[in-house]
Amino acid sequence: MNEEIVSVSGVYFSYNGDFVLENVNLKVKEKDFLMIVGPNGGGKTTLVKMLLGILKPAKGEVKVFGTSPENVLDKIGYVPQKMNNVNDMPLTVLECVLTGLKSGFFKIRYTKNEIKKAEYVLSRVEMDKFKDKKMSELSGGQVQRVYLARALISSPELLILDEPTSNIDPYGSFCFFTTLEEINREKTIIMVTHNLNLLATKINSVACVNKYLLYNDKPELTKEMMEIMYGIHDEHYCSMGAYVAEEIKHLTKCEGENCCHYKGRI
Ligand SMILES: Nc1ncnc2c1ncn2[C@@H]1O[C@H](COP(=O)(O)OP(=O)(O)OP(=O)(O)O)[C@@H](O)[C@H]1O
Ligand SMILES: [Mg+2]
Repeated sequence: MNEEIVSVSGVYFSYNGDFVLENVNLKVKEKDFLMIVGPNGGGKTTLVKMLLGILKPAKGEVKVFGTSPENVLDKIGYVPQKMNNVNDMPLTVLECVLTGLKSGFFKIRYTKNEIKKAEYVLSRVEMDKFKDKKMSELSGGQVQRVYLARALISSPELLILDEPTSNIDPYGSFCFFTTLEEINREKTIIMVTHNLNLLATKINSVACVNKYLLYNDKPELTKEMMEIMYGIHDEHYCSMGAYVAEEIKHLTKCEGENCCHYKGRI
């Protein structure tokens, strides 16, 4: 049986009084590829920060690899939603990747082995030829690839990505998703995204976070998830509403596992 990598049980969290997460439960097993979706402000990044031990639940328990997240940070690679501080520093691409080494942030000299590793992870995201460029000179999508390399350099067993593909072009020569699928053969992946096209990749489960967490152990949005994601669009007042109503109609007709209408449509 696959090992349990993440276990979130009965978790509540509030920043300043009002709960942004309530009674959240989630299990992620070894080699799972979980996609986390949900509206802006729903609590996705908050949940991710709890998996990293940056935030602590007001109630409930978060375990990663069977223990508190801070005990296993060396096993977790993280691609944050925002990383302004790294971009503002005059770092080269290679140096940025090296800061992903757990002992790397304040280092001035790196070993040959560490540099070779950085070059290797850069080649995995097809950014090796940019290694001496300044981070500030890269395009948005190139920066996101470098962040992925930075998360990979410490050979993590669990990779957590918070909206890693917002600047990635879908038709470029480099396919971010194929790379993630390859990585998923060796590692567990949790990815927050608003890009529902990713349902067509090899993710195996979906969580929708909007204060509460809904979970599906299949790579499909349930009807309840669709309503949370698109609920405010009214068919009569919003052109998006007609599209959503159509999607929901198809979902309610879904005949279970063998029904592929949804994947085929996006
Ligand atoms: N540091 C903070 N202090 C106070 N409130 C916060 C803080 N960070 C987030 N929040 C609030 O908590 C709620 C959840 O925020 P969170 O960043 O987890 O949402 P999200 O699902 O990641 O949204 P998005 O899709 O926009 O990234 C929001 O209402 C947000 O305004
Ligand atoms: Mg977020």
